[in-house]
Amino acid sequence: GGNCCKILYLASLRSFWHISDLHWDYTYKLGDDPSLVCSSSGRRPAEGAGKFGHYVCDSPWELINSSIYAMKNILEHPDFIVWTGDDTPHVPNEDLGEEKVLFIIEGLTQIIKQLFPKTKVYSALGNHDYHPKSQLPAEQNNIYNKVGDLWKDWMEPSSQDNFQKGGYYTERLLNRPGFRVLVLNTNLYYDQNSVTENMQDPANQLQWMDDVLSKAVLNNEKVYIIGHIPPGVFEKKRNKAWFRPHFNKRYLELIQKHHCVIMGQFFGHHHTDSFRMFYSDENPVSTIFLTPGVTPWKTTLPGVDDGANNPGIRIFEYDSETLLVKDMITFYFNLTHANNARARWEKEYRLTEAFHVPDASPASMHRIMENMAGDSCILQKYYEFNSVSYDRKPCNAGCRINHICAIREVDFEMYKHCVETGDTSPTVEGAIWLLVLSAVSEIVIPSL
Ligand SMILES: *[C@@H]1O[C@H](CO)[C@@H](O)[C@H](O)[C@H]1NC(C)=O
Ligand SMILES: *[C@@H]1O[C@H](CO)[C@@H](O)[C@H](O)[C@H]1NC(C)=O
Ligand SMILES: [Zn+2]
Ligand SMILES: [Zn+2]
Repeated sequence: GGNCCKILYLASLRSFWHISDLHWDYTYKLGDDPSLVCSSSGRRPAEGAGKFGHYVCDSPWELINSSIYAMKNILEHPDFIVWTGDDTPHVPNEDLGEEKVLFIIEGLTQIIKQLFPKTKVYSALGNHDYHPKSQLPAEQNNIYNKVGDLWKDWMEPSSQDNFQKGGYYTERLLNRPGFRVLVLNTNLYYDQNSVTENMQDPANQLQWMDDVLSKAVLNNEKVYIIGHIPPGVFEKKRNKAWFRPHFNKRYLELIQKHHCVIMGQFFGHHHTDSFRMFYSDENPVSTIFLTPGVTPWKTTLPGVDDGANNPGIRIFEYDSETLLVKDMITFYFNLTHANNARARWEKEYRLTEAFHVPDASPASMHRIMENMAGDSCILQKYYEFNSVSYDRKPCNAGCRINHICAIREVDFEMYKHCVETGDTSPTVEGAIWLLVLSAVSEIVIPSL
């Protein structure tokens, strides 16, 4: 009976790593002048900087190295690794150039290959993985060619070909029939990308995505989508979106159209820990998981107050027969502690334990969002995880609206409506659940 099912269930529970936004600053150097520790600080003083980095700087090599070694120590044999880009430091274009960008991507590729020589890596380009930054073209170029060569051991030959043409590709997930991965180049939709500004469908990626997903539906495949810049709005700054509006709309429509085969979307770029919900007829149908960055770099985006974070890395647990995302475990590196005492990657939280949900399905993620909207303790817990336990200030009413509306509304118009009305109250169904939660003193969730 039950035992038999349990064994079957456990047999298909597998794991993979997701890392993002390593942003290696090779200029990082301790010295007498705090404003000269790293170019990525832009002269902001790195007071008390240590060998693992500083919150106004991108990652020194010691931190990059520590993060990849931590992955190996914690889980040496994941099924695969998802790596969602942004390898170079936040410095002016004049300080980089094509050769330096390629040198940095090669350095990070090498350490991952060295420590995970047999592991498949699905790697997406970030807006910082190009020179000039964010200007990723909709056609073949030297950087796509060179990076396609660096990553060729991680791709099927046809994928390498596609990657070199537009920076995106699809292939079977782990070469298993019935399972597929799409690695996207969403940098083509970035409003800072002037190369693609007047294009309807740069590099034909949207049409291609529609075709690939339509075929996946016909063939009953299960699909993961991987990319760097996500659609929707930044939760740390009201109204701050990345995609141009027509691209945001098209992306959302594609997910709604093909949601039944899309089992997870994995993105970076925010350097924060958050998620985005997709609905169809008001039912939660898909989730983007935003994995925090390794770089602690405090953003210079105007209007974001103290936007640094602790370095984070993440394991996803998934059912390898259905690709349902079962859980995620985020590990964090207390940068202050590492510099003062000892480098340590600790478990920050496991999703199902921290938020009392059975798994990381769209229904469960929706439940978490509703609980955050209705319970300030749950909101506060999410808020501290959002910066990987760096910013532990109280999340007030304005903060709640920024986060809930960003999570709930990927569509720009719906988001606008959400922040204008400030209506983040949970649905009736959610309110009932909250009553249940507060009535039961301790909820016991069977742990896996
Ligand atoms: C990389 O990290 C490992 C594990 O902590 C350590 O043994 C090694 O010395 C580090 N290498 C560098 C170059 O920092
Ligand atoms: C990180 O370490 C510092 C210094 O040891 C400590 O004050 C702080 O509370 C730690 N942060 C967390 C989230 O544990
Ligand atoms: Zn980044
Ligand atoms: Zn980015």
